[in-house]
Amino acid sequence: MGFGKGYGKTILFGEHFVVYGLPAIASALGSFTTANIKIAQGKGWTVDDQRPATPGYKKKKYHESMQSVKNVINHLKIDTKNQKLEITFAGDLIAASGVGASAAQCTSLARALNDSFNLNLSDEKINEAAYEGEKAYHGTPSGIDNTASTYGGLIWFVKNLNGGKNTMDLLQSPKKIPLVIANSGITASTAEVVADVKRLKEENPEKFENIFGEYKMLAEEAKKALLEGKIFNIGSLMNQNQKLLQDITVSGEINDNLVEIALKNRAIGAKMTGTGRGGLVIALAENEEIQEKIAKAFENEGFDAWKTMIG
Ligand code: MEV
Repeated sequence: MGFGKGYGKTILFGEHFVVYGLPAIASALGSFTTANIKIAQGKGWTVDDQRPATPGYKKKKYHESMQSVKNVINHLKIDTKNQKLEITFAGDLIAASGVGASAAQCTSLARALNDSFNLNLSDEKINEAAYEGEKAYHGTPSGIDNTASTYGGLIWFVKNLNGGKNTMDLLQSPKKIPLVIANSGITASTAEVVADVKRLKEENPEKFENIFGEYKMLAEEAKKALLEGKIFNIGSLMNQNQKLLQDITVSGEINDNLVEIALKNRAIGAKMTGTGRGGLVIALAENEEIQEKIAKAFENEGFDAWKTMIG
């Protein structure tokens, strides 16, 4: 028997930009995926996926999910010829596009294998194994999702494009920040959206260079605002980040609608989070009363919404 947990995450700043070595800021969520492993007679492995999920999510991601399990098992060199692994995924993290569900699954599995076979892996090694799993979801993950899932907390992350160690700094905000996460209900393919951005960048390098330059300054300001707990600055920077995400075409119509609902209901800032073109939107609230108002507004429009505190 073995058990492991992996946290969900939300990207506050820098999804997509992070793939190109620009800094991003993410926060782990309190919700997590769990993996339980039973070792049985036989060979190979089976998966019983009991995670709560957005309708259609598990079906759309089925093959990627199975490949990710295989990648993690192979990376950790677990023998599946002389024993069978019966893996069950569960937990309270709702598997949806944008919440780091794939990374949470990979991290929980790496931790459960570590537990089952007494591998004594450090968090760094768990993170590396989870990253191998993430590759099944798209070829070039930045690594931010599995890093947030493994370490938890609020993180500043920069991918090392030369293949060396990524930069990961834990940030501490002096204030807990109320956030609402709204689910569009649409499952996007990270592989497709990331590949599309790559194509657009190759077609129009100058445009992307300008956007990247603008984003880089924004990310530094966002880090400062978070460290100082300046909530209005954070909100305003989220709005600016959303505009840049629209410019690179990853914020779809439904994301823009959700952002509008949030802003109309007194969110200080709102943006898509994660892959985009569906998935999730996050909205920053000044206090818990407004947080509740925003969550209700999303629900009244027919969208699931979750409240969380970050920082
Ligand atoms: C997905 O949660 C975040 C992306 O930036 C992809 C990645 O960082 O690997 C879209």
